[in-house]
Amino acid sequence: MKEHILHASFLAYDTAGELPAPDRALLEQARAALEHSYSPYSHFKVGVAIWMANGEIMRGSNYENAAYPLCICAEQAVLAAAASRFPGIAVQALAVVIKGQHKVIDIPAAPCGGCRQVICETERKNNCPIRIVLQGETGPVYVFEKGGDLLPLAFEGSYL
Ligand code: THU
Repeated sequence: MKEHILHASFLAYDTAGELPAPDRALLEQARAALEHSYSPYSHFKVGVAIWMANGEIMRGSNYENAAYPLCICAEQAVLAAAASRFPGIAVQALAVVIKGQHKVIDIPAAPCGGCRQVICETERKNNCPIRIVLQGETGPVYVFEKGGDLLPLAFEGSYL
């Protein structure tokens, strides 16, 4: 028997003002995407922006459905859109912000498990790590060097 330790580290900035300028700009784009969140059921808005290797920035937001399991997370919406719009172009960074209905959320919300799996698939497909930048409505910003740090031992195509 051997113990294995899964290790992931991230940077926590106290405010967005301390971030490198490109990260701050991507967060602002993600915040703009909140406006287009379609979330009449949860009233929880998620805005995402991605920075692509061709310099494009794409935005996405969550897209809910009265049949609840069909709700599409913002991360998955924008990554699927990017793969169709710019096939073969790597995603280099992804910023996520959130906005709740009843309270100001002052800590970052990390992508759900399904979104982490989709982020990891995108990293593998493009052979390019995706820098992850997370913030709540306000408060600290967490930066992960790659999506894989959020999902150690991800399921992947080599098993199939
Ligand atoms: N949501 C996302 O857009 N991304 C996540 O990573 C987690 C959850 C959305 C789905 C739903 O519209 C709302 O947030 C509440 O779960």
